[in-house]
Amino acid sequence: RSQKPKKDVPASKPRGAKAKKAAEQDFLKIVLGASGGIGQPLSLLLKASPLVDELSLYDVVNTPGVAADLSHISSPAKLQGFLPADDGLKKALTGADVVVIPAGIPRKPGMTRDDLFKVNAGIVQTLVKGIAEFSPKAFVLIISNPVNSTVPIAAEVLKAAGVFDPKRLFGVTTLDVVRAETFVQEYSGEKDPSKATIPVVGGHSGDTIVPLFSLAKPALQIPADKYDALVNRVQFGGDEVVKAKDGAGSATLSMAFAGFRFAENVIKALKGTKSETEPTFVYLPGVPGGDAIAKATGVDFFSVPVELGPDGAAKAINVLEGASEQEKKLVEVAVKGLKTNIEKGVDFVKNPP
Ligand code: NAD
Ligand code: LMR
Repeated sequence: RSQKPKKDVPASKPRGAKAKKAAEQDFLKIVLGASGGIGQPLSLLLKASPLVDELSLYDVVNTPGVAADLSHISSPAKLQGFLPADDGLKKALTGADVVVIPAGIPRKPGMTRDDLFKVNAGIVQTLVKGIAEFSPKAFVLIISNPVNSTVPIAAEVLKAAGVFDPKRLFGVTTLDVVRAETFVQEYSGEKDPSKATIPVVGGHSGDTIVPLFSLAKPALQIPADKYDALVNRVQFGGDEVVKAKDGAGSATLSMAFAGFRFAENVIKALKGTKSETEPTFVYLPGVPGGDAIAKATGVDFFSVPVELGPDGAAKAINVLEGASEQEKKLVEVAVKGLKTNIEKGVDFVKNPP
């Protein structure tokens, strides 16, 4: 991999010469769990993106093949694949700007995301330990479930290593937003459902997921008798896919789309160009504007729309104030579930089983 100049990430949005310099820098993306159902199509989308200069693929299996295959695509990104042997994780992570983690087992019918904790908690902990050691400044995007617990695990691992920057740690909840955009289409009348902006807040499992349709832009009218079913479909959209795949896993292709949408946004922000404000699961007390939301909800980790900048999360937007009474009640329910999930993640690192 070519030695790129390591950037001093500017403290404010780069302008003029600074912006040009940021845009010209090489940006290295890493996918940890790159050979999996999400990892492969996500790596494909990243390889095809003109915004990605270098791509490192790490997994416990099959990365040489996946990397060889993708490397034949005529796009700019230079590509390398790594396995755990021969310091693979160290080599993959060194110099990383953005690390995306879709490593870990997916659900089967009858399982909750929390049922994945036993296996995935340890996987995420190990990978984030590697990030703390080899790429402590990287932006970390966590897809592995249960996101409500794996993000707190990541935060605790980074804290223990003395390198936690809450502005650089994101739980990827974009799939919930993508689903909300899609499922509401029949009421929004938008030909392209992605044109709607719908904040989805809370966490990433069942009733911790709260779509705020009252704040949709453009505004939309959902018939009162259809509202509960629509909210339920967004909250349990993952189950729909798990059931349809019938034992072969959970959402992979829609997740790769959503993960790429969020990752691309992060890269744009890093490069100092315009990025969209998207909901993401962050450690609120460490993000500007987040304290008030943490106080209002009573939880430290929560998904809200976050403005991104070259330093990462630049501002957490308190959309909750504008939510309808009905939505505020859904948030109350979400917070209850979230508290337990967050505590479980924190405890896993602080009091190892
Ligand atoms: P998968 O089993 O197809 O792929 C997982 C990959 O992780 C495999 O290639 C496996 O070898 C790899 N892996 C396992 N342990 C590893 C380790 N220690 N280091 C590196 N790689 C490792 O599963 P999938 O369908 O791609 O799902 C991956 C995870 O993403 C699951 O936990 C799933 O629940 C979650 N997910 C999250 C969202 C979300 O919205 N955040 C959406 C869909 C799926
Ligand atoms: C999803 O929302 O599709 C993912 O979290 C995967 C799952 O287990 O449902």
